[in-house]
Amino acid sequence: MEKNQPLRFGVLGAAKIARSFIAGVASSALIDVVAVASRDIEKGGQFASELGVPRTHGSYEALLDDPDIDAVYVPLPNTLHAEWVIKALNAGKHVLCEKPLAVSTADTLAMFEAARRNRRFLAEAYPYRAQQQTLALRRLLDEGAIGRVQTIFACFGVKFSDPANIRLDPERGGGALLDAGSYATNMVRMVAGEKPSRVNAIARWADTKVDLTVIANLELPGGLLGQISCSFNTAYHRHALIAGTDGILETTFLNSPPDAGPPEIHLRRGIPATTVRETITLEGGSGFLAEAESFARAVMLGREHWTGSTEQESIDTIATLEAIARSIRSGNWEDV
Ligand SMILES: NC(=O)c1ccc[n+]([C@@H]2O[C@H](COP(=O)([O-])OP(=O)(O)OC[C@H]3O[C@@H](n4cnc5c(N)ncnc54)[C@H](OP(=O)(O)O)[C@@H]3O)[C@@H](O)[C@H]2O)c1
Repeated sequence: MEKNQPLRFGVLGAAKIARSFIAGVASSALIDVVAVASRDIEKGGQFASELGVPRTHGSYEALLDDPDIDAVYVPLPNTLHAEWVIKALNAGKHVLCEKPLAVSTADTLAMFEAARRNRRFLAEAYPYRAQQQTLALRRLLDEGAIGRVQTIFACFGVKFSDPANIRLDPERGGGALLDAGSYATNMVRMVAGEKPSRVNAIARWADTKVDLTVIANLELPGGLLGQISCSFNTAYHRHALIAGTDGILETTFLNSPPDAGPPEIHLRRGIPATTVRETITLEGGSGFLAEAESFARAVMLGREHWTGSTEQESIDTIATLEAIARSIRSGNWEDV
């Protein structure tokens, strides 16, 4: 990577989400997507030409061997994240990996260890974290706009029914919890500023044996109580309600508003039921663009430019998801 040159990205896999990523970052002066790799070179070539990506590699290894790539975007099935992220880091690439970063805390720790060993930047992709809406929400909480947060409810539901979808396949890390639930859990972790101490949860199951709908209660050491829900069997919804001692915040946490809803935060500064609701409207736009530019700045200028999930937040998010999965099986409270 040369100074003042865009960060050159390669993409592992002709994934659906990679289309949104590549299209989203196309206008950026900070990023160039220069190559895509697919297990099927013909499919990869077609994908690359549709999206204007100049090079196609017929294997993920070949892309990692390409010296003209600085960073890798990993949109593979969840069970393959750890393996390919570690290979990419060992090949000297920076890595932006789709959520959930991995399917276990142990894998997540090994991935960050590989990043440290190779002196490369690894980050988990949650485009909502780069949105102005999320940055404004964090500022309001830091300023004490609603007092001390007592409860947070975060939900994300969507409909997936095609059995060929990797999300419904237990062998490829499927299930609503690791998918939509990672978003809701990451939201609670961000607001709480700490890891839950224990959780309990209940699930409904899909015919393919992945969890279809989950509700979990989260207890945090500082006293905050949280609840998340996630589903692959509802109409689309993704929002959070944060209640403090002195006010209320309601917000969506969308990747790319105004797609799926306007980038608004609803705030009530006051205790009585009659408190007026203010609507704060932020700038929206592609979360993939905002996230990738934040990533590029973090690589080129310093890690403080990364606005997304921190290493600790990503580790705590997967640890919480693992504890929720344990609780679903045991029916008991489980420590995180
Ligand atoms: N941040 C977000 O909001 C968001 C949204 C959607 C998805 N995601 C995440 O992105 C990842 C991919 O999701 P997606 O819906 O885009 O997946 P997808 O369309 O099924 O793509 C996954 C890609 O992985 C590659 N692959 C390698 N081994 C595979 C295997 N054994 N089975 C299936 N595919 C395999 C394939 O590429 P080749 O055949 O070309 O090699 C495939 O195109 C997941 O981790 C998901 O959680 C995140």
